[in-house]
Amino acid sequence: MSSQDVVIALTKGRILEETLPLLEQANITPSEDISSSRKLLFDTNLPNVKLMVIRGSDVPTYVEFGSADMGVAGKDLILEYGSSGFYEPLDLKIAGCRLMTAEPVDAGPAPDRLKVATKFTNIAKRYFAEQGKQIELIKLNGALELAPSLGLADAIVDIVDTGKTLKANGLVAKDLIAEVTSRVIVNKASMKIKNAIIKEILGKLREAVVRKHG
Ligand code: PRP
Repeated sequence: MSSQDVVIALTKGRILEETLPLLEQANITPSEDISSSRKLLFDTNLPNVKLMVIRGSDVPTYVEFGSADMGVAGKDLILEYGSSGFYEPLDLKIAGCRLMTAEPVDAGPAPDRLKVATKFTNIAKRYFAEQGKQIELIKLNGALELAPSLGLADAIVDIVDTGKTLKANGLVAKDLIAEVTSRVIVNKASMKIKNAIIKEILGKLREAVVRKHG
């Protein structure tokens, strides 16, 4: 890879599916089918633009430290990472969902010290502190929706899209913590050093978002 290459970090799944058409409108197309490949780094039609596919929660890390110049990450993961180590110049308005608190449908009055299970521990800590509520945080990495019915937690903080997962597990959404969409983030040094190409990509992506949403 040359020092003038621009590496864009993406995540498999909904973000990749919804980002690729926007990248295509910015004249960036991968040289092979990303979803069916086990590779992690991909060439594109542009010799100096590469795409990298990693876990969503790793995108902010790769971008902050400059191993990726740009990345696409959910606002939830950006808030959880909590860094000012990169720029966030563009909302792609894709992969929309909400970050919410949820509790059992039949929850009684809240205890003084709420037990909250989540993988978004930084967000939950900040949110409940702002509300002046004392909580005990329980870090889980998945299947959070089980925690209340098994007595592990009184409430959870998680992503809600259709609400089906909550409903299927006897939970109901309570407070909205943040509206989530995918954002483009850019490494601060790359923004200076590779300004021309990054600005061009951002400009074309912005046009694509405007075309889609007006
Ligand atoms: C998220 C979230 C919920 C589910 C909500 O999980 O953690 O489990 O989606 O969606 P719904 O409101 O449409 O039911 P995801 O599938 O993204 O996987 P994850 O557990 O790895 O976050």
